[in-house]
Amino acid sequence: MTRRPLASSGHDPFAGDSIGAARRRLALEFRRGGLDAPELDARIIVGHALGLDHTALAAQSSRMLAADEAGAIAALSARRLAREPVARLLGRKEFWGLPLKVNAETLLPRPETETVVEAALTAVDCDDRRWRALRIADLGTGSGALLLALLSELPHARGIGTDISRAALGCARANAAALGLVDRAAFAACDFGAALNGPLDLIVANPPYVARADIAALEVEVRDFDPPRALDGGPDGLAAYRAIAPQARRLLAPDGNLVVELGFGRLAAVRSIFVAAGLAPVAVRHDLSGVDRALVARPLP
Ligand SMILES: C[S@@+](CC[C@H](N)C(=O)[O-])C[C@H]1O[C@@H](n2cnc3c(N)ncnc32)[C@H](O)[C@@H]1O
Repeated sequence: MTRRPLASSGHDPFAGDSIGAARRRLALEFRRGGLDAPELDARIIVGHALGLDHTALAAQSSRMLAADEAGAIAALSARRLAREPVARLLGRKEFWGLPLKVNAETLLPRPETETVVEAALTAVDCDDRRWRALRIADLGTGSGALLLALLSELPHARGIGTDISRAALGCARANAAALGLVDRAAFAACDFGAALNGPLDLIVANPPYVARADIAALEVEVRDFDPPRALDGGPDGLAAYRAIAPQARRLLAPDGNLVVELGFGRLAAVRSIFVAAGLAPVAVRHDLSGVDRALVARPLP
């Protein structure tokens, strides 16, 4: 295969290619560009550009690309080579089996955040409250991932998601509507739980928890494409926990639960913040890599 540059200057690198050839060329360029999953990314990007699923892509492999199709593939490829995550190119990411829209103001929901959902459901099940009309808040809701996952599992629960980004709240609201959960989900722009009233049965949060000085060293996909306010946890990465802990103490019902996501190695520090705010840490849940990822706490009597 002749090597033609993807970042073309007026020249379209995929012009004259079949679908299959474009896919192979793209995978090769992605491999040379050091991407982790070049074949998979190439398949998804070509499929997305052409509006074809996996089966149709294979069936039409020998079809020649039209000029506009070649141009669409080239544009997406250049973005991926600049390390923009595939989910941002598609504008969607799956979380807890739910298809969620994302935008530039929302974090891409992460698989490890599902640990927070698991910990919250375990806490609810321990109290035998899965079928009750639970009142839930998701502080820093982003795309709505945590709140919508919980509402999808707890059929009588209602919840509110807060965020300081109105664009993120718009995305979360659209996701709630698309999932048929909008009647049980509300969204509000405020500083974590500051504008909320209790009592609440369950508060969940995946707050920004990267120490500010560490942001520059994050992988490019995260550092350059996740919104800064979804990452920046202040000088020591703990600012959001300090804000959330007293709010949770005020908002939680006496038998309510707070479940937060933790950054790597942050368990002890977050525990101390919670205890100082009158919350008793009651459980820790590991993610699939064995990292302490979710901390559950309850109001001290
Ligand atoms: C790490 S992201 C988590 C998003 C989503 N919950 C998830 O797990 O995918 C943190 C979110 O908190 C929001 N945020 C940051 N500071 C906030 C604040 N003071 N009050 C409310 N939301 C805030 C950000 O805009 C971002 O959406």
